[in-house]
Amino acid sequence: MSYIIQLVQGYPAHIYWGKRLNRQGNLSDILVRVERCSFSPNPVPEDKTISLDTLPQEYPQYGTSDFRHPAYQLQLEDGTRITELLYQTHRIIEGKPELEGLPAVYAESGQEAQTLELELVDAHSGVTVILSYTVFEAFNAVARSVRFVNTGKQPVSLLRALSASVDFPDDQYESLYLSGAWAKERHIQRRALRPGSTVIESRRGSSSHQQNPFMALLRPDTNEERGEVYGFSLVYSGNFVAEAEVDQFATTRVSIGINPFDFKWLLSPGESFQTPEAVMVYSDEGLGGMSRTYHKLYRTRLCRGFHRDKDRPILVNNWEATYFDFNADKIEDIATEAAQLGIELFVLDDGWFGKRDSDNSSLGDWYEDSRKLPNGLNDLAQRVNNLGLQFGLWVEPEMVSPDSDLYRSHPDWCLHVPGRRRTTARDQLILDYSRAEVREYIFESLSQVFHSVPVTYVKWDMNRNMTEIGSAFYGPERQMEVAHRYILGLYELMGKLVDAFPHILFESCSGGGGRFDPGMLFYMPQTWTSDDTDSVERLKIQYGTSMVYPISSMGAHVSAVPNHQVGRMTSLATRGDVAMSGNFGYELDLTQLTPEEKELVKQQVSSYKEVRQLIQNGELYRLKSPYEGTGNETAWMFVSEDQTEAVVYYFRVLAEPNEPLRRLKLSGLNPEVEYHVDKLGASFNGDRLTHIGLPLKPVQEDFVSECYRIKAVKN
Ligand code: DGJ
Repeated sequence: MSYIIQLVQGYPAHIYWGKRLNRQGNLSDILVRVERCSFSPNPVPEDKTISLDTLPQEYPQYGTSDFRHPAYQLQLEDGTRITELLYQTHRIIEGKPELEGLPAVYAESGQEAQTLELELVDAHSGVTVILSYTVFEAFNAVARSVRFVNTGKQPVSLLRALSASVDFPDDQYESLYLSGAWAKERHIQRRALRPGSTVIESRRGSSSHQQNPFMALLRPDTNEERGEVYGFSLVYSGNFVAEAEVDQFATTRVSIGINPFDFKWLLSPGESFQTPEAVMVYSDEGLGGMSRTYHKLYRTRLCRGFHRDKDRPILVNNWEATYFDFNADKIEDIATEAAQLGIELFVLDDGWFGKRDSDNSSLGDWYEDSRKLPNGLNDLAQRVNNLGLQFGLWVEPEMVSPDSDLYRSHPDWCLHVPGRRRTTARDQLILDYSRAEVREYIFESLSQVFHSVPVTYVKWDMNRNMTEIGSAFYGPERQMEVAHRYILGLYELMGKLVDAFPHILFESCSGGGGRFDPGMLFYMPQTWTSDDTDSVERLKIQYGTSMVYPISSMGAHVSAVPNHQVGRMTSLATRGDVAMSGNFGYELDLTQLTPEEKELVKQQVSSYKEVRQLIQNGELYRLKSPYEGTGNETAWMFVSEDQTEAVVYYFRVLAEPNEPLRRLKLSGLNPEVEYHVDKLGASFNGDRLTHIGLPLKPVQEDFVSECYRIKAVKN
């Protein structure tokens, strides 16, 4: 791709982003400059072709002739809100510098990426703003962020500090974004742009179940395989905004960053503020192309650490098996079954600490409940290890229960506003992670558990959103910083923990997928996708999530029927195929299965081990969308990078009488190569599988799935 910036009278103008242009051509006359326009003022008196209202810009300002949404706004000490950023200097750096205190994609060598830092200055206040752009050798992506440095003499306040803004020259686009609610996260929304704004945002203190920090612009005829798409993904876990604004001249401004709602940041002379990073992806190979770029970039250059490239273990989690009602023997029984079935990791979920018999107590008291575990947590972990399984543990370290020793000792350690009610949700309050002593306490208590128990996996949960956002630590002038300071504190603590315990595989969770975002993936390479484990509901959730997030990041478990969220009865085979399309595991009482079911689980576990590499690291091709038509069919496939192997999953929700004769066209295969399809016991050329497809059998049952394994025939 090409991304072109031009300086126009010192203003950094955005000239082009899209398919790669021939570098030899003259690029300086791309910008259309006409003398217009009523009600669009001209900041350079001698050049009436310039109005910031019509100039496409890299980082639009407020109050000097642009009436669209600005990317930033500063308030100076005298109360004024006008600044004017003009080019000062620039530099090009090999590789990619880290972002101070924030998660970001990275380069492993200077050859992989280059970073342009464009330095702008507001002469009046002396504030310097550095726009950073990283381009990658291997990805059609630009990572953008902004650093504000108060190089002036007076304090200033940031009222708005977005990470990226792009002005597109027309409005013939649709927006696509991922919305939902608890247990139905990241459902795809797609709609045409109209004059005015399409805005998605979170004001909940976390990225949220309701909206995901991602928006794409695509041409109306763009589909999975063809057409242009521009993706904007924010590497941030707190309040965000993403907006597409169509203006009076039918141009479109897309911007993304920290939500300016309830945000203000005081910047004293000498201080700096780093925005989160926006990762912008261009694809002219449709949505599939965009997703594959995000998947590989995030899997290999956002996720980090020991587990980044490792096979993720098949786990069994006891939450839906026992909820809070368990003891060591019950856990050992489940683990014993798990070991016999080939499962690799047992995860002890909520309820092992304090006096936690329900969700109304003990968060903050991170020591074992000796009523449930009389011989201790370490003893239980050893018993699980002796069965040949790894041991994993649930924690919810950002929370405190009013009924806890921690809260009784430190009632001001939670987010709160003096004199106001402390609103609880799930009977809990949120610890004030903007305070170093709170983070230190949690680091120490968790470290003690992780040192004394052989834990190799941790599920890090977070089960409510912020109310009464305030901190007892900060003065009145910094209260509007608290929501962002919380996220910075969270990042600092997670960073410290993953450094201290590099062997632990961390999975993040927020009532399922309430904080499934790139910021969390920088610390924890996998996320519990949703509390909804019903295989039909999961089709939409996993399909939507796969727009941006790699398969290796998406936890997907087989649970019991009737399903605990929707009461639906589906077959174990279908539940298995849906869960195997992600980071696989079980979430049910294995001791309750019939011998036939156990046999099937054993087969599922062993076949997932065979295809795990392919699913977790392969290229995803979405073949049929649960969002199209009646949503009755969904299909996707995973293809190895060398195109020698693939696995295809096809799902049918409801059976139909007298059903049409159907075929499933595949994608991502080499047209020249002959492939053997296991279920059909026959071989076909890649082009035939792509253009004619696999014949699908009529079904006489609801909720069915088919899996096909495909291998290149060696000649
Ligand atoms: C919410 C999570 O999403 C569930 O998987 C489970 O861990 C519960 N919390 C435990 O309280």
